[in-house]
Amino acid sequence: MSKRRTPSMMTTEEAQRQETYIKQIRMQNDLEKSKTSKQKHYYIATFGCQMNAHDSEKLAGMLEQMGYQKTDQENEADFILYNTCCVRENAEQKVYGKLGYLKYLKDMNKDLIIAICGCMMQQDTVLNIIKSKYPHVDIIFGTFNIYKLPELLQTYLETKETVIDIWNEHKDIVEDLPSIRKYKFKASVNIMYGCNNFCTYCIVPYVRGRERSRQPEDILNEIKELVADGVKEIMLLGQNVNSYGKTLKDGISFAQLLRKVNEIEGLKRIRFMTSHPKDLSDELILAMRDCDKVCKSLHLPFQAGSTEILKKMNRKYTKEQYLELAEKIQNTIPDIALTTDIIVGFPGENEEDFKDTLDVVRKVRFSGAYTFIYSKRTGTPAATMEGEVPEEICQRRFNELQEVLQPIVYEKSQEFYGKTVEILVEEKSKNKDSYLTGRTDSGHLVHFEGDTSLIGQFVNVEIIEAKTYYLIGKLAN
Ligand code: SAH
Ligand code: SF4
Ligand code: F3S
Repeated sequence: MSKRRTPSMMTTEEAQRQETYIKQIRMQNDLEKSKTSKQKHYYIATFGCQMNAHDSEKLAGMLEQMGYQKTDQENEADFILYNTCCVRENAEQKVYGKLGYLKYLKDMNKDLIIAICGCMMQQDTVLNIIKSKYPHVDIIFGTFNIYKLPELLQTYLETKETVIDIWNEHKDIVEDLPSIRKYKFKASVNIMYGCNNFCTYCIVPYVRGRERSRQPEDILNEIKELVADGVKEIMLLGQNVNSYGKTLKDGISFAQLLRKVNEIEGLKRIRFMTSHPKDLSDELILAMRDCDKVCKSLHLPFQAGSTEILKKMNRKYTKEQYLELAEKIQNTIPDIALTTDIIVGFPGENEEDFKDTLDVVRKVRFSGAYTFIYSKRTGTPAATMEGEVPEEICQRRFNELQEVLQPIVYEKSQEFYGKTVEILVEEKSKNKDSYLTGRTDSGHLVHFEGDTSLIGQFVNVEIIEAKTYYLIGKLAN
């Protein structure tokens, strides 16, 4: 666990306002602790993407400043927060399922505070369901005002009535929120928020608002501070990092930002996600090639192979353009590991269209892919499109896709066999005692036997076994 920045360094007026609530709650918690000698705990469950995971780090940072300590045991917590995702229906179902259990916990402990935030809350229908069916939820907020948690909590503590605060658009980018990182040596940094692409299947632009970029100085300063605090690897986050800077006056491009980040002394690795193919410029490919700290991995979702379907998805590229782009990247940066996202069963997808998806998978030879069955999201243009694909066909195509994809991923993994690679050691292996887990520059997971003192270090390992989703290595020197 690692903390960053103290409240006294918060700069914006809004952050300062929240600081007064933080102090108030901290005082109340300290007072109670001195009376009962019981420490208060918080539990956060995060659903969805890295954007949400990073928001949760900020929420955890505020909770710790308010005097709460983290627990992994939900039933031990005094404050439970669910940070939700609505990108697919099953993400929402998971949350509803767990909310039932929270009712039981609340019945057992009437002082338990339950809060729920994130993308799901930005939809009126969801809000109404929570209000009517889950009255045990005490605090509800959305994606645009996470920094208001201290104020919302204070209001709840004073009134003991449900507090709801959901905005439809973002107001300020509040800089300098405290944040608790999972790893001391790696961190995520938002470079932009929101999305303007409106892919027709996707709910993100509706729940995360319009695209806005952070000032380059704020990003660079944050990274410098992180590096001073021990961070060696950073992940630059945005729904579409390739359009970074378009909303800024000075018009800095993502490639230019990357070159600046690359100059930061002490930083070892730079990753970023996600890239939209339509905005991936030659300038960026060259910056990736030239910048020694930029990892040789690129997540480049193609979603569907058929140009017809891509058009209906509003992706703004054709099958051929995607293939050309992938080839150009692979030719310019030979060792690059390309990964992707794929959706099957988009409305109107026929067998020919689906074959185009398989064709792209075979031609590009991805190192990994997240694969999804299309999920209808109310309010998106695709939700009312004709040609819904029956569930059994979706499932069959999904399975067929795995059959084509997995051998390719396995073969890409095999390319590591016998090679010695540098990895950043991240943690103890979850499956095997005395083993550690690290990641290569290309993003591949490596398990190897080693001492926990190596966590956070770069080490060389020789790959002695290559599986589809991970590699086994042995320390080499
Ligand atoms: N901004 C990123 C990621 C967005 S969400 C990008 O553009 O790549 C992550 C992935 O979820 C998407 O890439 C897409 O493959 C998938 N996804 C989004 N909406 C979906 C839906 N309605 N049904 C199925 N998959 C979806
Ligand atoms: Fe969704 Fe498309 Fe934006 Fe990605 S680029 S978040 S898929 S609308
Ligand atoms: Fe889900 Fe929101 Fe991310 S909808 S995928 S958590 S931006």
